[in-house]
Amino acid sequence: MHRVFLLGRGDFAEWRDAARALAAAGVAPREVEWRTSGENELFAAGQNLPKALPRARARALTVPAGFLELAEAVVCHTEPGRFHLLYRLLWRLQSDRNLLALPADEDVARARLLARNVHRDSHKMTAFVRFKEVFGEAVGRRRFVAWFEPSHFVVARTAPFFRRRFADMDWMIATPRGSARWDGETLAFDPRPCENPGHDDPMDDLWCTYYASIFNPARLKVKAMQTEMPKKYWRNLPEAALIPGLIAHAEANVRAMAERAASDPPLFHHRLQDAAPTLPQVRLESPGTLDALREEAGRCTRCPLHCAATQTVFGEGPQGARIMMVGEQPGDQEDLAGRPFVGPAGRVLDAALHEAGIARDSLYLTNAVKHFKYVPRGKRRLHQRPDRGEIEHCRWWLAKEIDAVQPSLVVTLGATALHALSGERRPLSEVRGKPIAMEGARLLYPTIHPSHLLRLPDGAERLRQHALFVEDLRAIRAMIERAHSLC
Ligand code: URA
Repeated sequence: MHRVFLLGRGDFAEWRDAARALAAAGVAPREVEWRTSGENELFAAGQNLPKALPRARARALTVPAGFLELAEAVVCHTEPGRFHLLYRLLWRLQSDRNLLALPADEDVARARLLARNVHRDSHKMTAFVRFKEVFGEAVGRRRFVAWFEPSHFVVARTAPFFRRRFADMDWMIATPRGSARWDGETLAFDPRPCENPGHDDPMDDLWCTYYASIFNPARLKVKAMQTEMPKKYWRNLPEAALIPGLIAHAEANVRAMAERAASDPPLFHHRLQDAAPTLPQVRLESPGTLDALREEAGRCTRCPLHCAATQTVFGEGPQGARIMMVGEQPGDQEDLAGRPFVGPAGRVLDAALHEAGIARDSLYLTNAVKHFKYVPRGKRRLHQRPDRGEIEHCRWWLAKEIDAVQPSLVVTLGATALHALSGERRPLSEVRGKPIAMEGARLLYPTIHPSHLLRLPDGAERLRQHALFVEDLRAIRAMIERAHSLC
């Protein structure tokens, strides 16, 4: 009997080398006992393997490509019989090349089931790892740590996903089944079990606020959520504590949303329209103060968008604001409230501004287009992008606002505002964060629109993009502080 000791922590090469030696020497599966061991015993493993045979006497081994892929997943399972199962399959494949095509075969079915469990565990890891920033003395790249508890040995096989996604930061994922580390150059895996670093991140509170604000109760599917997000992962997710409360209030929140949506927009519009004939039409020469401009814009009929919108949503903020932020156009809630950025995108913007240390009331906030453009769908109004003509008409107001506010920096949120204010036609991803000169000493700083973050389906990616947006805002704050300390 050959007794083989393996470390058994998902290292495919470890099993492969032992299996190759045994099979080449013609050792049948019933003559092998596979054991997993601690590190010390592993060194004894070689003594239990048959001596390498001379080439001429060794059995030539071949396997179909599908077997390697299957075996690489199966060795990551925690099932104690996995090595024996794989060796039996390897042995049988030497005389039956089509074995893997028989789904009813007991060994094949078992191996496929184990592989599926591993794939699922790996997928869960990509979805539920939450990095926390490690703040310290070190300068340079930001450092993050995450604690995750996988069911199987999936850390090494899943780590390349995180290297691709989070290449620009240093990170470590610690688990009881080994750890992975990335320093910008090397992705290293250590099979030794880790302890929970128990790291707290002040960002967790912010992430929870953000999660709660983007949670859409109308899309809640509790069953799907429970299947996709099993309870065992909850204890490491900062947002998990919020979920029961969000679910409990979902029905009431959906009702409140429906009531808000039921405020029939044409009704608002007609009330304003009825009042309009008694007001003078817009004058071409504006007196220049923000209040006068706002009043005048309230009667704007420069393009057909005023017909369906409830009201003009003009910019707001102090006349001498150093930073002007320009969005695309008001959304549903802004149209009803008559104020910019008070809906979901506004809440994302508020959270990011807070994190970057910029007070919202120090900014002048406005939009490239001042009326809400939408298509009605039942009681809902679906946002539609303004077209070139509409942006062009509204640029008249934007120019007046810039004249009145005289900001040092104009921040464009998203592509519409960028195109409205610059000749720039390159994609936003190419010009983001690169200041563009405007007239005088004024600069334009292009960044993303906060609603972009609301559309990202993947939580980890959303968090990453949120952090990048905050970085843009911090850069904006630094530019303004530098410029004004020189004055
Ligand atoms: N999106 C915008 O571009 N502006 C707003 O005011 C709200 C949402």
